[in-house]
Amino acid sequence: MRDGFSITQVLKYLAIIYVGCSILYATGHLAGLINTSRSSSSQLTTARSAPQAPVTVAELQQRYQGVQQVTWSNTQDQYEAISEDLMLDKVFADAMGPSKVIPYYFKAEESSDNEEVTIATLVTHNRFKVLSRLASRYKGPVSVAIHVNDDDTKQVILTDLHRLYDENPDMRRYVDLHLVVDKFDRQFNMWRNVAKFFARTDYIMMLDVDFHLCTDFRKSLKANPELMQVLRSGTGAIVVPAFEYINEEDGEDWREFPKNKQELLEDVQSEKLDMFHRSWRPGHGSTNYTRWYAAVDPYKVTEYSYSYEPYVIFKKEGTPWCEERFVGYGANKAACLYEIYLAGIDYWVLPDDFLIHQTHHYPEDTRARERKYNKKLYDYFREEVCLRYSRTMIAAGLWGTPRADNVKRECAKIKGFNDIISRMHG
Ligand SMILES: *[C@@H]1O[C@H](CO)[C@@H](O)[C@H](O)[C@H]1NC(C)=O
Repeated sequence: MRDGFSITQVLKYLAIIYVGCSILYATGHLAGLINTSRSSSSQLTTARSAPQAPVTVAELQQRYQGVQQVTWSNTQDQYEAISEDLMLDKVFADAMGPSKVIPYYFKAEESSDNEEVTIATLVTHNRFKVLSRLASRYKGPVSVAIHVNDDDTKQVILTDLHRLYDENPDMRRYVDLHLVVDKFDRQFNMWRNVAKFFARTDYIMMLDVDFHLCTDFRKSLKANPELMQVLRSGTGAIVVPAFEYINEEDGEDWREFPKNKQELLEDVQSEKLDMFHRSWRPGHGSTNYTRWYAAVDPYKVTEYSYSYEPYVIFKKEGTPWCEERFVGYGANKAACLYEIYLAGIDYWVLPDDFLIHQTHHYPEDTRARERKYNKKLYDYFREEVCLRYSRTMIAAGLWGTPRADNVKRECAKIKGFNDIISRMHG
């Protein structure tokens, strides 16, 4: 070898580098350990916010000292040890946070039969009176989510809420009220999920609090065992058709509203009343009002549209939740009903029952912008949900069953969907 490095020289340098590194590592490690033992009490609390350096198994063991290991025999205890906050954090994980959910801030005195229908709804401060009226009108279980901003307005809202319960015994008797305390307005779908999640009967009705219940749909349901069976089996959701007055002022006093279908038909004929939101037909058009006027039996919705957002009664368990990514106006409710439909749940229209919208005056500020945003989101969402449900149903061996009919029919409208499905089948 002329000049270059001999093998021994190379080995010598490598040895020096190795020793150097070891010393550096050991020093760092020791410093780290000293550091750890000093701050170990704050480790758990800071773990979430600051990214941590890789740790050794020994460090991990030290960190979780006193935390029980999960074994088959004590899993039950572990579940009980999960804090309520953590649980709710996961339950509403898709919503914007941090958010504090306080279930049963007021809990109804009455508990209902499991087969009852709980009205699941949201209420804002300016609608408290309407909620109180709904409780007295329905005289059945209501589960309501109310959003409270974590600021000066909080006390005002809570005081008014307490007054509402003081003044109306039907509020105390029937209404479970859950608070959502955070900084985010108009997380409607998250609030809907809160109301559904804490409902205490097997069935819920997803309703906007502004609607007046003109008829007793519970009586109609009970009188129709086949429809009850549809509900019980989780294969159908029951639509109660919605109407509104053409002249807004006519909708201000619910005492003047028709009390049965005959009276309603007269008002429709004289063009006082019409389908809800007739200027936006896709919203309720699938109910097919022409058909409804003549109907004497329940019928299945056959002309479904992805913008359809009827008020429906359905089973609480096993039905999809409302997508919490929709925040603000536009598409949020339609997205809930789209997923319900794709899950294989058909819409059945009650022939003799109906709701009428009570007039109030909306603030219009943020609506247009949010609608545009949500429309875009809804376009993506439909593709995603179609892929998710078809993938799930194929994997579960349900693709050849009636459960998949709605996905097949509705998702075929999405470009390229059928190609993807045929490839999934191989
Ligand atoms: C609505 O129902 C009527 C009467 O049953 C029927 O003739 C019509 O085709 C239906 N319309 C739609 C859009 O489904």
